[in-house]
Amino acid sequence: MRRKIVVGNWKMNNTITESAALATAIVGELGAGFSGCEVGIAPTFIALQEAGSIIEGSAVQLVAQNCHYENDGAFTGEVSARMVKAAGCSYVIIGHSERRQFFGETNATVNLRVKKALSEGLKVILCVGETLGERESGIMASVVTTQVREGLAGVSDITEIVVAYEPVWAIGTGKTASSAQAEEVHLLIRTTIAELYGQKAASHLRIQYGGSVKPSNAVELFAMPNIDGGLIGGAALNAADFVAIIRAAS
Ligand code: 13P
Repeated sequence: MRRKIVVGNWKMNNTITESAALATAIVGELGAGFSGCEVGIAPTFIALQEAGSIIEGSAVQLVAQNCHYENDGAFTGEVSARMVKAAGCSYVIIGHSERRQFFGETNATVNLRVKKALSEGLKVILCVGETLGERESGIMASVVTTQVREGLAGVSDITEIVVAYEPVWAIGTGKTASSAQAEEVHLLIRTTIAELYGQKAASHLRIQYGGSVKPSNAVELFAMPNIDGGLIGGAALNAADFVAIIRAAS
């Protein structure tokens, strides 16, 4: 039985003070002793420490939105895996479509980041997903399976990996993939993982869905056999909505 995992990706939202307020509200809404599923929040880098101090001792874990593949050096604007680990993160999101789309991330750089994060003792949420154009031109399956294969190239153990399937056309658009559409791709990802790592590893891998998840659609999505939780954007910026989605996974 796979334990579901729900993570709030705050993206480039909230100052340090606003992040602290949101973290406080989430911990409060969730209540003490929550253990229904794994939960994480991913504030901006500058708010990690403050948010981390607020969620300490709660069921909520700290997640970074990205990390670089070098330990340190002349990489202006980047933050290394070593640094986010030291800031208290247990997970890091790697290869989000916004990183691929706006910041030139490729499967190759995603792979470098994945390997570095794992070597620093971080767990990885590897994001994959096709654009609308790719889906409409019939290459969804090859795009997604290539992202999985190349993102994980050289990774021998996927115990600390979570894959997030986020169809780009469903992110921030209010257009959710139907539960059947999402399930189809989740199954494809699991089958690909089985080819690479064997059936047992594939059956343990958690695959989150991301893209306009809301309290109103979370129950149906999370009921699908291969959907093991969610990576939540917009709805994670509201404590009540985020906790409602967490409860849908619990
Ligand atoms: P939305 O939930 O706002 O569509 O964002 C999804 C996402 O990109 C999470 O990483």
